[in-house]
Amino acid sequence: MQPRHFTSLLDLTSAELYALILRAIELKTKPNLDYRPLKGRVLAMIFEKSSTRTRISFEVAMAQFGGTALFLSPRDTQLGRGEPLEDSAKVISSMVDCIMLRTNSHETVATFALHSRVPVINGLTDWQHPCQLLADIQTYFELRGDIAGKTVTWIGDGNNMCHSYIHAAQQFDFKLNIACPDSYRPDQAIVDAAGDRVRFFASPEQAASQAELVVTDVWASMGQEDEQKNREIAFRNFQVNAQVMQAARADAIFMHCLPAHRGEEVSADVIDGPQSVVFIEAENRLHAQKALLEFLICR
Ligand code: CP
Ligand code: NVA
Repeated sequence: MQPRHFTSLLDLTSAELYALILRAIELKTKPNLDYRPLKGRVLAMIFEKSSTRTRISFEVAMAQFGGTALFLSPRDTQLGRGEPLEDSAKVISSMVDCIMLRTNSHETVATFALHSRVPVINGLTDWQHPCQLLADIQTYFELRGDIAGKTVTWIGDGNNMCHSYIHAAQQFDFKLNIACPDSYRPDQAIVDAAGDRVRFFASPEQAASQAELVVTDVWASMGQEDEQKNREIAFRNFQVNAQVMQAARADAIFMHCLPAHRGEEVSADVIDGPQSVVFIEAENRLHAQKALLEFLICR
């Protein structure tokens, strides 16, 4: 049987994603400490970039499910010395049950998926961050119910997170209003594929009008550190602050995948205020990924 992969939200059907979110909520709210579906199973985790949430949530998920997670850094493996990705995927997948990668280039994850005999999970690339979206959507479901038909506002960079939000708008059928500087728009092909659910606005306040959920992310992602100064100038009018939250619905919630920069993409009063659900969102990485691992490995 061909393995299923999770390189983007489009690798699963909308029905599968819905079921996964409901399962994540069930795993969180009805914990069963004796449930060990991944006993004896091993997850290999390859990190080309730093991580707190992704690494810990996958390691803890495997431990709680009775399995093991291996942390592999390119520096300590032959990947860092140029062993072909195809060979690495074949070798690693011959010994483990699932591979999670956080890589600079999305191509690396795509190549692994092509040559792996076990499921491959995207733990963030320059193009997508689908695991974060599972946690975000779970959080919305828990706090507000189904996200279908709701209005979500993305403010800031048209980056990996923004791309995954556009995929989520397609798969979970919500409206996505985007406010970003012209030079930092998301990939046009991804936008086009989402149809009229995705709309662009000149200002954060306009984009946030009537929003039920407001989301942002850092102005400079990992790997873009030398663009920080230019980006601070380009994004200075794209901060989520009290004025922006006031344009949204009174019961709107605020999300951020973290880590955050208070005073840049979000003001401290918003991220530390009553509408912010960022720490529920962070914890849900664990529950959502348990549901994902169960779905991919226990088939
Ligand atoms: N949100 C997220 O992916 O966090 P880490 O970079 O800490 O894994
Ligand atoms: N866009 C950010 C997300 C970090 C979780 C980055 O790629 O660095």
